[in-house]
Amino acid sequence: MASYVVAGASRGIGLEFVAQLARKPENVVFALARNPDGSKDLQALSSKSNVHILKADITDPKGLQARLVAADAVAKVTGGSLDVLINNGAIQGNFFWLTIDEYPTPEDLVDDFRKVFDTNVLGTILPTNAFLPLLRKGQVKKVLSLSSGLADPASVLMVGNKYGAAYGITKVGVEMANIKYATKYKEEGFTFLTISPGIVKTDMNAPPEKPEYLERLQEAAMQFAKFAPPTFTGPIETSESVSKMLSVLDNVTPEDSGKFLSHHGDRNWL
Ligand SMILES: NC(=O)c1ccc[n+]([C@@H]2O[C@H](COP(=O)([O-])OP(=O)(O)OC[C@H]3O[C@@H](n4cnc5c(N)ncnc54)[C@H](OP(=O)(O)O)[C@@H]3O)[C@@H](O)[C@H]2O)c1
Repeated sequence: MASYVVAGASRGIGLEFVAQLARKPENVVFALARNPDGSKDLQALSSKSNVHILKADITDPKGLQARLVAADAVAKVTGGSLDVLINNGAIQGNFFWLTIDEYPTPEDLVDDFRKVFDTNVLGTILPTNAFLPLLRKGQVKKVLSLSSGLADPASVLMVGNKYGAAYGITKVGVEMANIKYATKYKEEGFTFLTISPGIVKTDMNAPPEKPEYLERLQEAAMQFAKFAPPTFTGPIETSESVSKMLSVLDNVTPEDSGKFLSHHGDRNWL
């Protein structure tokens, strides 16, 4: 039996992680969502006997309590251990298509950066800390945290992407947190991996409604297209992204701990 926690599992990539992992009857999958009742798709998956849904916000103080309760709930089913944690939940923020100096007010900037940092960075660190005691007792000892090619500094500089400042900056933070865990737990057989899922058809990737933002999306798409490999044919389905990421997850070893890889298992983000 391998046990998995997917944090941020109500929709999109997180939901697909739960669906694919649950297809193997030998797996037991714990899906953390801040509002599980609001996700019909997640509720539908809970009819499978190897899926357990737990209510937990990955970020706020009440969520901290819920995470500890969630860790207890996982321990009760598994006998005190956990094999794999997948930190999936994230937000883009409310000003994704503005540049770093275009926020309407400094207050808007501070508010947006704090919210995005809380979710994307603390929302990775807090669940990791809550589940570490269980992971240390597990056989597999793997933690997968979702980042983005938009947080690879060299690529962003090369393509010239100006948008998504709070998102990109916080996802770089996810990568550094991953490195801090990798260095601390190097001797214990852990593999901490940051991964980019590719460009995936989810709510997060839906085209913006404002026409001026749509122009910016097109501008960004053209920038990326210049550097896209011939194999890239556009955004992929969650099924393809998740099956590729699970294959990378299966194949990494403690030697890879601290790396940031793409869904292809390399540094090709598209
Ligand atoms: N889609 C892409 O092309 C793409 C590209 C690069 C990286 N990524 C990364 O892949 C991951 C999944 O993205 P996605 O495209 O599936 O996004 P999505 O469709 O917007 O889903 C985001 C998920 O995060 C959850 N979440 C957000 N804040 C939370 C909180 N405080 N507590 C618990 N759950 C929370 C959401 O739950 P609610 O339903 O409750 O809001 C939802 O389940 C993210 O880390 C994202 O940055 C995605």
